[in-house]
Amino acid sequence: MSRKLKFHIFKYNPLDCEDNPLDCKDKPKLKTYEIEETPGMTIFVALNFIRDKLDHTLQFDFVCRAGICGSCSMVINGIPTLACKTLTASYPDGEITLLPLPIFKLIGDLSIDTANWMKDMSKEIESWIHTNEITDINKIEKPMEPEVADDVFELDRCIECGCCIAACGTKRMRPKFKGAVALNRVARYAVDPRDDRTDEDMFEIIGDDEGVFGCMSLLGCDDTCPKNLPLQTKIAYLRRKMVQV
Ligand code: SF4
Ligand code: SF4
Ligand code: FES
Repeated sequence: MSRKLKFHIFKYNPLDCEDNPLDCKDKPKLKTYEIEETPGMTIFVALNFIRDKLDHTLQFDFVCRAGICGSCSMVINGIPTLACKTLTASYPDGEITLLPLPIFKLIGDLSIDTANWMKDMSKEIESWIHTNEITDINKIEKPMEPEVADDVFELDRCIECGCCIAACGTKRMRPKFKGAVALNRVARYAVDPRDDRTDEDMFEIIGDDEGVFGCMSLLGCDDTCPKNLPLQTKIAYLRRKMVQV
């Protein structure tokens, strides 16, 4: 038997106020929508229904609908996660509150700008393979040990959804803290034998309170990462490496 769901959704468009800051009537608020639940409904499906049938102005992001692009992250009943991977059936009382991820710039309603944050983070940690080796495209690619390739692949699964940043207490207190997504990325290059950077080079990037020594190990990141990346293990791995520099 289907049931009614009650959605309480954050509504606010900062751009309206940018256009007319002296006469801005729009204030952040929660708006309630009631819909009928359908079998297998995800939060993403519900949001599309609300936008199609009840409120054409509702803003939220999605691309893949399959937990791959990282666009649909939001805070669902207090927990940062992906709307397209979350079933409405997980909420027995049918009351669901949706907020945009904190920390990131709000575009409007549930839509946030993670792209610029991720771009700046990638620049800051120099998120590319550093090597002086010149690639000869006529030669066969150098083989990599399967265990090492697995390790790199495992850490490369990050979809830059931003949930780990939104769940991080340190990030709230220390705005320049790089966060688990950045530390995971550094770990990814640290295990990649094609990257010539030494531990000393990595220390320059993450060897302070804005990097691995700022992390308070409360593991909000590890609890919320929708890709189940081994964030706890990799932060500990980097910390062990960095104390030896
Ligand atoms: S373990 Fe560290 S990086 Fe992860 S949420 Fe806690 S403080 Fe942030
Ligand atoms: S580490 Fe996990 S939670 Fe953080 S951005 Fe990547 S996929 Fe999202
Ligand atoms: S829409 Fe791509 S991860 Fe949800």
